[in-house]
Amino acid sequence: MEKETFDWQNLSFNYVKTDYNVRCYYRNGSWGEVEVSSSEMIPIHMAATSLHYGQEAFEGLKAYRGKDGKVRIFRIEANASRLQSTSDATLMPQMPTETFREMVIKVVRLNERFIPPYESGASLYIRPLLIGTGAQVGVHPANEYLFLIFVTPVGPYFKGGFATNPYVVIRKYDRSAPLGMGMYKVGGNYAASLRANQMAHDMGYPCEFYLDAKEKKYIDECGAANFFGIKNNTYVTPLSTSILPSITNDSLQRVAADMGLKVERRQIPIEELTTFEEAGACGTAAVIAPIERIDDIELGVSYVIAKDGKPGPVCKKLYDTLRAIQYGDLADPYGWVTVLED
Ligand code: PLP
Ligand code: COI
Repeated sequence: MEKETFDWQNLSFNYVKTDYNVRCYYRNGSWGEVEVSSSEMIPIHMAATSLHYGQEAFEGLKAYRGKDGKVRIFRIEANASRLQSTSDATLMPQMPTETFREMVIKVVRLNERFIPPYESGASLYIRPLLIGTGAQVGVHPANEYLFLIFVTPVGPYFKGGFATNPYVVIRKYDRSAPLGMGMYKVGGNYAASLRANQMAHDMGYPCEFYLDAKEKKYIDECGAANFFGIKNNTYVTPLSTSILPSITNDSLQRVAADMGLKVERRQIPIEELTTFEEAGACGTAAVIAPIERIDDIELGVSYVIAKDGKPGPVCKKLYDTLRAIQYGDLADPYGWVTVLED
């Protein structure tokens, strides 16, 4: 196969065309055969439920090339299971874990030349997508669906990689409601976040910060990433019905516990921010993005966390440990990594 000559070091988090994607159609009540496609296009009925009523879900995971040249994919089953929970919430058929797993492995293998080398610190982002393709004019679930997975090589989500960032609380818009879809990975949540995200960017912040929609008292999420704070040897992360159950956060909680930290999942009042020794945003894209401060501009308060502007030692250790497991530099005691055999 032709070798790709990318400037791997300078990849950003953007779409890059790769060779193949994999697809599976749901018709007449069952999933069909897995198909391989080299087209970036999908023909779709103009009355498809995904287009009008947002009946769609997506996922995000990564494949990494290790020092040994082997390819490792992180937490395939956890992503399959979250997609199944989003499918239940949106009345879409569940993609079985086994087929999900088979398709992820297949699409990664087919696009192996796009997996960045170990030294670059970049990775291959894997994007599963499930959409209602059947036509409806009334608000009803579709009777036909398409599940596809494409991949694209990516660099760091935030420019500058592992460095602290300031965030800004946007009180004007909510991303999701307490009993809404915030716990699921549906496109509508991201549509709802675009204005807040743009406001943050316009003010010079890389990302917006959400409080709970009902009381605006508790921490919810850091844009498209979960929040965690560190204090008194404890990893504290929000318990909320309007945030995505982040697989990175779940992994960090396990790693933190094994490093000897206590782990607390509970409501976190915004005023508590100043008591944290460190804090971070976490997700597949960024792994950990340490937080410098959070500005609540409407109330004129700035909660400074990293007083010296630098990532703290616990964030660094968590980041290094999780990355080492993902790249295969450390053993994986949790069974999170699928190593592709040559
Ligand atoms: N929160 C939101 C809203 C997200 O979109 C993401 C990204 O997937 C996360 C959190 C982090 O989740 P994960 O660690 O599973 O990537
Ligand atoms: C993440 O993977 O952490 C994300 O936030 C993905 C984003 C592009 C939706």
